[in-house]
Amino acid sequence: MIIAVDGPAASGKGTIARALASHYRLPYLDTGLLYRAVAANVARHDLDPAIEADAVAACDFDEALLDDPALRDDETGKRASIVSAHPLVRAALFHRQRRFANQPGGAVLDGRDIGTVIAPEADAKLFVKATPTIRARRRHSELRERGSNVSMDKVLADIRARDLRDSMRSSAPLVAANDAALLDTSFLSIEAALKRAIELVERQVKLKAERARG
Ligand code: CDP
Ligand code: CDP
Repeated sequence: MIIAVDGPAASGKGTIARALASHYRLPYLDTGLLYRAVAANVARHDLDPAIEADAVAACDFDEALLDDPALRDDETGKRASIVSAHPLVRAALFHRQRRFANQPGGAVLDGRDIGTVIAPEADAKLFVKATPTIRARRRHSELRERGSNVSMDKVLADIRARDLRDSMRSSAPLVAANDAALLDTSFLSIEAALKRAIELVERQVKLKAERARG
């Protein structure tokens, strides 16, 4: 079973995807981390994220980088959304994600284009959303907990800028797949969001099985 979970920053997609992976005992891939690793590698080598050739050169990153907590910084998230707009960067990361999705037994992946590009054949697709203000509040408290003194206004402005960049790019923009179930977590606790996510996945899997039977 392949489960695709997409959505904007701090919508709760990672929390939901991880919980679904543990519920269904499936391996999980946070695809945002791959773009964040490219972004961190760009910074490490003093390259320019806006230049496609620079960003492509940074795609060959050291695997250990994926465990670096600095990847979670907002600055890295912002840089990740700049490198991820380059078609050649997306192409460089495509096969790794496809292989992960298609491993025997299935997988859960979260990102921006899992249901549309990486695994359009997924058995279940969720598009997780929440209002920008609520997402900014969530991200702000996460950053505060990690010792940052960034202001709420700055976090909200960064979230809006990243939403815009991710939605407006021509290559694999952030958009819900036609067959994705929408899950608005704005006013849901994590527990309520997970319960709803499992219901939506069960419904999609059941429908797919019924269709396959004709
Ligand atoms: O956790 P958060 O939603 O803040 O960010 P992320 O999922 O780690 O993704 C960081 C950036 O990578 C996003 O803003 C996207 O520009 C890019 N990304 C993408 O283009 N495609 C994906 N499948 C995942 C992330
Ligand atoms: O992966 P993404 O960036 O979409 O979001 P996340 O890392 O799953 O969630 C961002 C923050 O919002 C985390 O601190 C979650 O605990 C929190 N959250 C929440 O408060 N309520 C929800 N329904 C889902 C997530």
